[in-house]
Amino acid sequence: MANDESINHDEPLIFEKSSPGRKACSLPAADVPEQKIEELIPRDLLRDELNLPELSELDVVRHFTRLSQKNFGVDSGFYPLGSCSMKYNPKVNEDIAGMPGFTEIHPLQPAEQVQGILELLYNFEKYLCALFGYDAFTFQPAAGAHGELTALMMIKAYHSEQAASGKSSAEHRNIIIVPDSSHGTNPASVSMVGYQTKVVKSNGRGNIDMADLKQAVGEDTAGLMLTNPNTLGLFDEHILEIAETVHKAGGLLYYDGANANATLGICRPADLGFDVAHFNLHKTFSTPHGGGGPGAGPVGVNKKLEPFLPVPRVIKKGSDFLFSIVDFPRSIGRVHGFHGNINVIVKAYAYLRSLGAEGLKDVAENAVLNANYVMNRLKEYYYLPYDRTCQHEFVISAKWQKEKYGVKALDIAKRLLDYGFHPPTIYFPLIVEEALMIEPTETESKETLDAFCEAMISIAKECETNPDLVKKAPHTTPVKRLDEAKAARELNLRWSN
Ligand SMILES: Cc1ncc(COP(=O)(O)O)c(C=O)c1O
Repeated sequence: MANDESINHDEPLIFEKSSPGRKACSLPAADVPEQKIEELIPRDLLRDELNLPELSELDVVRHFTRLSQKNFGVDSGFYPLGSCSMKYNPKVNEDIAGMPGFTEIHPLQPAEQVQGILELLYNFEKYLCALFGYDAFTFQPAAGAHGELTALMMIKAYHSEQAASGKSSAEHRNIIIVPDSSHGTNPASVSMVGYQTKVVKSNGRGNIDMADLKQAVGEDTAGLMLTNPNTLGLFDEHILEIAETVHKAGGLLYYDGANANATLGICRPADLGFDVAHFNLHKTFSTPHGGGGPGAGPVGVNKKLEPFLPVPRVIKKGSDFLFSIVDFPRSIGRVHGFHGNINVIVKAYAYLRSLGAEGLKDVAENAVLNANYVMNRLKEYYYLPYDRTCQHEFVISAKWQKEKYGVKALDIAKRLLDYGFHPPTIYFPLIVEEALMIEPTETESKETLDAFCEAMISIAKECETNPDLVKKAPHTTPVKRLDEAKAARELNLRWSN
């Protein structure tokens, strides 16, 4: 009989595999005397039993190897998760970030001992300024949403100064305009900073409705937040007019650069009129994304907002690099302990240096080409609400499948797992019913894209011939259809009570 232990789909918890007395290591005897421990740690905080699982090293290795094989990642398969840029991350960037010169330094070391990393930060800031058109950057924000918050804090500081010096007609600018396609973090950041969100509609081409925007702006406009290309994967064709409209009203423009993979080296947000922008290094700059971080959301600013950047900032005096606080008295202060997720920044720096200016442009061109290829292959089989050239991603809909066969976007996403693909983002953006948001990225081959298209086409045919097969998917994964609402509402990560 075949030993199916290695393909056991029902891998027990490590605690369930525990057997008293088994060990995976031999620890040396404690060199702190028992009574000393009791002096250092109060008795009621000491435990006699730790209740840890007891297993041999081999059991532990097999357990975690099997679990890792059930996982899905960019290294194991195609991952077209819209708005997440799940591209391949070259391993050389990991090697560079793991060099002892980067990993064995401490943020409290004096500047003269860490000139290397300071020089890297200084240079990376210059490169990002050239790439996106800004005058300065902060690397403190640890994610895109954190970058949004930081930027809004600077916008608020700017308006307060304008009002205090009598330069602004409105004392209370507290409205941030966002389109109805905006990412959920945008209005959330607006609330966190104490502003209010005003939503403007998208038009039939997926652009901001200019008439609606013109009605929305006024003396209370603090700014507008826009991702361009937007979450429909479409470049707003009226961006210059949008910028002019918001600026004329006295507001500032914020660029949510989470979708910058489509425009690298092709157009610069600052040139389009955006005063401030964040970029997700954990998307565009090849840091692994997902699994809870760490990420980085550096924020670039033009001259209007530069005085408000978080401190400390890296500066150069003569040939020395320093962290400076004193040179920036109008700063909003710190937004992160120390200087940000430096390791992520090192990876992004290595990625940028290895590609160079031309390589970055290739990234954007190939990301856009791949997305348009897949979109055009699929549009005969799935409803395409905005039929125009897309950028790095596109949104199709399961509307036809739902109307005719009762099959929803969620069912199609689950069925893709049976074909070995990670599903696209679903039900976002909210303005497209039964949305499937697909971002192929630039690192995938034509063979992979074709295999994905074949799977999507095959699923569209299954919806006609055997809708139940799709509605009950997945059939081949270690766990079948999950109750996702229960998993989110009744999160229980304890193995016993
Ligand atoms: C358009 C857009 N804006 C902002 C964010 C927020 O970025 P983060 O998840 O790093 O906070 C995302 C993340 O997916 C996004 O897609």
